[in-house]
Amino acid sequence: MKVRVGFIGCGGIAQVHADRLAKMEGVELAAFSDAIAERARAFAEKYGGRAYADYHEMLEKEKLDACFICIPPYAHTDQELLCAERGVHFFVEKPVALTMEKAVEALKAVRRAGIITQVGYMRRFIDSYRKARQVVLERGGGVALFEAWWIGGIAGGPEHWWRRKALSGGQLVEQSTHLVDQARWMVNSEAEAVAAFFETRLLRDLPNFDIESASAVIVKFRSGAVASITSTCAAQPAGMDVNFRLIARNVELVGSGGNVILVEGERREVLQATVDAYYEEDRHFIECVKAGRDTEVPYIEGVKALEITLAAVKSAEEGRVVRLPLASY
Ligand SMILES: NC(=O)c1ccc[n+]([C@@H]2O[C@H](COP(=O)([O-])OP(=O)(O)OC[C@H]3O[C@@H](n4cnc5c(N)ncnc54)[C@H](O)[C@@H]3O)[C@@H](O)[C@H]2O)c1
Repeated sequence: MKVRVGFIGCGGIAQVHADRLAKMEGVELAAFSDAIAERARAFAEKYGGRAYADYHEMLEKEKLDACFICIPPYAHTDQELLCAERGVHFFVEKPVALTMEKAVEALKAVRRAGIITQVGYMRRFIDSYRKARQVVLERGGGVALFEAWWIGGIAGGPEHWWRRKALSGGQLVEQSTHLVDQARWMVNSEAEAVAAFFETRLLRDLPNFDIESASAVIVKFRSGAVASITSTCAAQPAGMDVNFRLIARNVELVGSGGNVILVEGERREVLQATVDAYYEEDRHFIECVKAGRDTEVPYIEGVKALEITLAAVKSAEEGRVVRLPLASY
């Protein structure tokens, strides 16, 4: 059976997925849609399939098995609901929405429809991370601390949606959400409270820029573990660094690029990253669709990561600890 795939959004990350899906057996790139018709046409020319300016029309006319939803955070309106209504499984990029209302509405639609979903947290598919996590689960003896940092720059130019809070949600909501998801996944527990401070003045002179220049977020997990996630988009190009560290009772993990140094007592072992995480996450989704089983990163995982980042925004704005959940779902 060939899985007939359509795309909503044909921008940067859509290209990453389409390139990988094009190399996969049993996948037909059947249709592409983008609000900018030219982009959908360029994808259709490159990968085959039909181009649409309107995803409503695409979903209406094409009999798709699955859809890749690769639109900016602000653009999530009815795409997930329509896929669910039509029984079209979907892969959606993070963050899944900008509000809990929107995310919970889509989650309920997904549950009602019983479709297969996956959120684009590709770090979960890095093989060194997977091995390291397994060691922590099997013989870590409990996690004390997860810490991670995203020391980066500003994505896109002055007109890009990334630097506008109403469009992206800010660096934490849009980008460091990867680290929040990694924390949940590696600590293997649910968050119960969040405290955060944001720096919001430093870069305000930049055109259209109204997101935080830095954030420091503390998450308390039900297991007792704590996580610290710090981010900035004010780093110098040569100083950029995205990494993590985890301290469990018997084991320590030190991220090193995609590799992980596993420390157990006097022993240090480097777990090498050997895979293309985007290929692996896409292959996992397609395999799950073929087998009719849910993925390792279903939609609810995106809702939970979003909830933590929104709780951090709230904490920073209100100057208090925010307890979860923020919504019932
Ligand atoms: N997992 C990752 O590593 C990763 C990397 C980059 C981006 N992303 C995520 O992917 C999403 C998209 O990011 P991007 O960098 O590809 O953005 P982009 O701006 O390059 O592309 C988005 C595309 O969506 C189209 N679009 C916007 N609104 C639309 C609508 N209502 N209907 C149809 N098309 C619409 C735009 O015209 C554009 O072509 C973001 O949520 C981002 O956080 C994830």
